[in-house]
Amino acid sequence: MNFELTEEHKMIREMAREFAQKELLPGVIERDEKQEFPDELVRRMGELGFLSMMTSPEYGGGGMDTISYVIAMEEISKVDASAAVIMSVNNSLVLWGLENFGTPEQKKKYIPPLTTGEMVGAFCLSEPEAGSDATSQRTTAEDKGDYYLLNGTKNWITNGKRAGIYLVMAQTHKEKGHRGINCLIVEKGMPGFEVGKKEDKLGIRGSDTTTLLFNDVKVPKENRIGEDGFGFKFAMKTLDGGRIGIAAQALGIAAGAYELALAYSQQRKAFGTEIFNHQAISFKLAKMATEVEAARLLCFKAARDKDTHKPYNQSAAMAKWFASRIAVDIAREAIQIHGGYGYVKEYHVERLYRDAKITEIYEGTSEIQQLVIARSLLN
Ligand code: CAA
Repeated sequence: MNFELTEEHKMIREMAREFAQKELLPGVIERDEKQEFPDELVRRMGELGFLSMMTSPEYGGGGMDTISYVIAMEEISKVDASAAVIMSVNNSLVLWGLENFGTPEQKKKYIPPLTTGEMVGAFCLSEPEAGSDATSQRTTAEDKGDYYLLNGTKNWITNGKRAGIYLVMAQTHKEKGHRGINCLIVEKGMPGFEVGKKEDKLGIRGSDTTTLLFNDVKVPKENRIGEDGFGFKFAMKTLDGGRIGIAAQALGIAAGAYELALAYSQQRKAFGTEIFNHQAISFKLAKMATEVEAARLLCFKAARDKDTHKPYNQSAAMAKWFASRIAVDIAREAIQIHGGYGYVKEYHVERLYRDAKITEIYEGTSEIQQLVIARSLLN
């Protein structure tokens, strides 16, 4: 077992750190306030290869391993969790799904523009009445011979407004339950497809989250991913990898909050000394440092399982469950260490606290991760 990063991994960390510190940090408070993420920054992430890290070079991707992706996600999430979720959905849920289960024609057509930042993708599983209970899809994809007629509503869709293509789960054969669900590639601009309300969120405010409305959208048969009825398995397999990305996002938020608190504790003086010298503070930092390290190891373990083609459903859920929990705890403690300064925007930790919370909710709540882990214990 080797705990050392390779030279390549260290280079990726440096590159992601530099991009985050120099290009993301300057406008991050404003983006959070205005609830926007400029197209130029998305294109810049594409240019630097962050939008398609694990995608094969054949289609314009970086061909890197999942560990590299975790490393970059951590560095970017330390500074801007909104940029990180745009990146994570595109890499793990859209590109990985397309590359692993798409037809050669689908890959050739849709993957290259998703690698450059010319467009990003969205993954559309959640519905008003199907969140954790993802098998209960109400959106329908009626088989009409050479096309599907898509009707329904999707909720909480990351990149909902910005995306150019959407992987949409919908029920075709109701009587077959989850085995009757299909995943269809829907393009923006298809008649009957409309982007609905943009959510006004607590955190990750730079990323757009919307409702999507499908009203008699004709989706060609060739846009179905996999065999008829493969949609639910497609979503579950894709989400296993997505959870590694969100675990890494949570890790980055935790590490970012910890680093800010550590630095502050060495500058701020109270009762005649830097506050780090008070055990009330240094013990908190010791706990935070240990939890960050534990979350990082869980993320690397899940990434390694995926890269070595071992089952990673359990390790991904463990990483996501643990990292998201400590992200919320550490961001809260980072505010506590900053005192009143932590409660205002310019010190960044209040944003990290708000951003952390979503990692306990999306791509499966903490309770869903525990369910996945518990079920895996019996196998
Ligand atoms: N890989 C492959 N197949 C899987 C699987 C996996 N990880 N997990 C389940 N399956 C298969 C099962 O084998 C089963 O297939 P068969 O019946 O053919 O054997 C089928 O899927 C149904 O599985 P279950 O019986 O376990 O289904 P369930 O309803 O009891 O529970 C669940 C499944 C784990 C709770 C699932 O519904 C789930 O993960 N829910 C959470 C959904 C979620 O994460 N939503 C996030 C939305 S995406 C998002 O947030 C993206 C974003 O924009 C940021």
